[in-house]
Amino acid sequence: MHSHLIPGVDDGVKTNEESFAIIDQLLELGYQKIITTPHIMSDYYGNTAESLSIAYAQFLPVLRARGYTLPFQCAAEYYLDEKIYETVMAKEKLLTFGDRHFLFETNAVSEPLQLKEFIFSLTSQGFRPILAHPERYQYMTLEKAEDLRHRGVLLQVNLLSLLGYYGPPMQKLAEKLIERGWVDVLGSDCHNLDHILLLKKVQRSKFYRKALDLPLLNYSL
Ligand SMILES: [Fe+2]
Repeated sequence: MHSHLIPGVDDGVKTNEESFAIIDQLLELGYQKIITTPHIMSDYYGNTAESLSIAYAQFLPVLRARGYTLPFQCAAEYYLDEKIYETVMAKEKLLTFGDRHFLFETNAVSEPLQLKEFIFSLTSQGFRPILAHPERYQYMTLEKAEDLRHRGVLLQVNLLSLLGYYGPPMQKLAEKLIERGWVDVLGSDCHNLDHILLLKKVQRSKFYRKALDLPLLNYSL
């Protein structure tokens, strides 16, 4: 789960062919199901729950026509900005997956002021929030990660973090989260074919194997 494989809607794949090439590689790596999550970030992509549902409904038949039979679902990676905060507060429709699981990310630098209120609103509406790549945020600490889990947030670590792809501090934090058993979901965050090579490489890493021993949500999605 967590990838950007719907062509042309965000900074992920640009063409159907690119998406197919990535899916071929994922199948080869043993992936059995894909939950792709294009960005919803109002300042950048203009995607909404409705527009992504349409893009998905257009892409899925193309994928099937090419002979791909694997389960392929579409949710979203929501960026916590003013717009999505208001969308959640107004209890508008959200793109979720699994059992009302809701994937979101924040800015990289500072903890958003509305973060706790946002989480409270989501959980009290019966959603299960998942914070995308907690290890990538400069403001994240183990204490904050623990507090978020107590508030009902699941933590989704990016596989590429385990190779130091985003930098050594991010790798360290991802490893600590795995050691504590605080990783609830693993995500590829795959945007392009370059990421595939790394997803192949990560399967040989010690912390990847450790993470697979955790009761990950991935096993039941
Ligand atoms: Fe992503």
